[in-house]
Amino acid sequence: MNAFSFYNPVKLIFGKGQLQAAKKELPKFGKKVLLVYGGGSIKKNGLYDEVIQMLSDADLEVFELSGVEPNPRISTARKGIEICKKEGIEMILAVGGGSVIDCTKLIACGAKYDGDAWDFVSRKAQPKEALPFGTVLTIAATGSEMNAGSVITNEETQEKYGWGSPLSFPQFSILDPSYTLSVPENHTVYGIVDMMSHIFEQYFNDATNTPVQDRMCEGVLKAVIETAPKLMEDLQSYEHRETILFAGTMALNKFLEMGYRGDWGSHNIEHAVSAVYDIPHAGGLAILFPQWMRHNVKVNPGRFAQMAVRVFDVDATGKSETDIAYEGIDRLVAFWTSLGAPTRLDYYDIDDSKIDVMVEKAMVYGEFGNFAKLKDEDVKEILQASL
Ligand code: NZQ
Ligand code: ZN
Repeated sequence: MNAFSFYNPVKLIFGKGQLQAAKKELPKFGKKVLLVYGGGSIKKNGLYDEVIQMLSDADLEVFELSGVEPNPRISTARKGIEICKKEGIEMILAVGGGSVIDCTKLIACGAKYDGDAWDFVSRKAQPKEALPFGTVLTIAATGSEMNAGSVITNEETQEKYGWGSPLSFPQFSILDPSYTLSVPENHTVYGIVDMMSHIFEQYFNDATNTPVQDRMCEGVLKAVIETAPKLMEDLQSYEHRETILFAGTMALNKFLEMGYRGDWGSHNIEHAVSAVYDIPHAGGLAILFPQWMRHNVKVNPGRFAQMAVRVFDVDATGKSETDIAYEGIDRLVAFWTSLGAPTRLDYYDIDDSKIDVMVEKAMVYGEFGNFAKLKDEDVKEILQASL
């Protein structure tokens, strides 16, 4: 294990009916709240009305920013920042998925900054102050509800980068599995792929002696693998939604990543792909991650073989570590395919015409990946294998 310090201040409020807890949480920060949400799913499933009622019961003055896009855009965050500055907003409530929450993180920091909020995303500046914000999560996927990360797209320059600060943790997050019952089939699959990918990013690290962390990662993965097919059979199952929702949070609240640094290379490549093509984040991961794995088996075949045996029940008898590793990757692909995830970039009409542009975007901060350091030729090979 590496030396580490761990910090996660997010108050997690989980379970049916927990929206009402926001009535106690929000008034701690003032009177004026900005409600941030996406393209309308919360209006269709009735959550919007419940939230408005709750805010009215809490006697808060409500302002709204709607229309946050999947792959949230800097232009939308700028609109939110403008409202905060103009109206003297004291706190924000994000109601939605990772995109709404990530956008809210930037609005919260940008509202207390004189320059352009893109400075935080492009790492030109660090937030010194932020508005407090809470979240009501509506889709199991990113873990943004319990971490400080945020991923923002600049649609003009076709850039998409992650950023974060100790000031971009939510104050609280409310997770009621009922609100995820309306997530459609494709986004349910994407969420499952995303949370599994987050665990793989962490599992593939270069530390030694991490048996507790390994078993925690494998345990969450196994629970997701057992539950996902049952959920796909019955999208209205509260029980399975509950399991998957909790798994998504645990997969990326950094509990699994104590004592080592995860790899995060596949995420970096995916962000470059969705910066150029605006595809769903986890649709990209389902295609790219197995290719990243195949490209990097040689770095530590034993690590891949351990995953194959413990998570995908590969029979190791009489096989080399490398063969076991590849069998495990094949089983992962078969599993994701069985849920309905894509396997080739061609699925999104992506061909080789912009490979060099995507490589350039992925390499903007130089070589990356902590398990496997990737150079531009590696990224190119992974993208080509994914076409
Ligand atoms: O916009 P609305 O109408 O709400 O519809 C959304 C959207 O179309 C819909 N949806 C959400 N909850 C729903 C629902 N539809 C019906 N019923 C519900 N209850 O689902 C669609 C996708 O929503 P989105 O928020 O984009 O999904 P997700 O949570 O997967 O977030 C993806 C974004 O998060 C970033 C990704 O890059 C992408 O931009 N990531 C953020 C991370 C973080 N902050 O830690 C880590 C991740 O690796 C990821 O990169
Ligand atoms: Zn992700």
